[in-house]
Amino acid sequence: MNKDINTKYDLSKDAVLLIDKGHHKIYWVGTTSTEALRSNIYLIKDRREGMIIDCGSQGEFQETVKRIKQVMPLSYVTKVFANHQDPDVTSAMVDWLELNPNIEIIASPNTHTLIKHYMSDGKEYRYVNTERNPTLTLDSGAVLEFIPSPFMHSPGSVSIYNRHTKTLFSGDIWAAISLEWKLILEDDFSEHIEHMDFFHKGYIASNKAARNFLINFKEREVTNIMPQHGSIITQENVKKAFAYLKNLKCGIDYFRDISDEELSFIE
Ligand SMILES: [Fe+2]
Ligand SMILES: [Fe+2]
Repeated sequence: MNKDINTKYDLSKDAVLLIDKGHHKIYWVGTTSTEALRSNIYLIKDRREGMIIDCGSQGEFQETVKRIKQVMPLSYVTKVFANHQDPDVTSAMVDWLELNPNIEIIASPNTHTLIKHYMSDGKEYRYVNTERNPTLTLDSGAVLEFIPSPFMHSPGSVSIYNRHTKTLFSGDIWAAISLEWKLILEDDFSEHIEHMDFFHKGYIASNKAARNFLINFKEREVTNIMPQHGSIITQENVKKAFAYLKNLKCGIDYFRDISDEELSFIE
């Protein structure tokens, strides 16, 4: 992926073509909110089918729609994937379903149980269970694998490994928070670590959870990491990103052990 992308596009309004494999393209259609936690939304356009990865907030729905319309008709959108239930990740599913009630919502059962609550009046949607359907083959033949990433950060989180492009849509894993932002990471990776730390130390459960996620990539080659916040990590930094997670101390790693003695007031 070319770093020219950062200057070639007007990020305030454009749909950004990240990867072009002919019939299979990946776009960024996210938001450039001035808040430090801005959301990345990705679109896979596969022949005449569109799949949105982490559709974002309701307040940002119109912005996403404007960007998608630049590259395909909205009617192509047939699938919305939800990494987990957080409003910054998934609340705009309500708007997508209003536009087209036939859109399939792809999520883990744990996430499905929670995102149902975004719907009013007990309305239902076409649900695709990632545990029962661990892979999805798109029209072009490109295969997506749904890889559970429990407690990274949500219990039911699922990332997507795109076998065709070796891209990992990681949700909140490798998310970064910063006022300054570039869509494609250019800076020294060590500077980026500071921005990732802000997020990971508070939101990611533990090093054990991180390592249980990483083991999935022993035999899967990753050349791009596309997180839900912060910059996209390209090939030159993927190894460093994996090492960051392997050695990460976060969440309950900072809890102290409470002895039985301290809890002796409980029988
Ligand atoms: Fe989240
Ligand atoms: Fe998030």
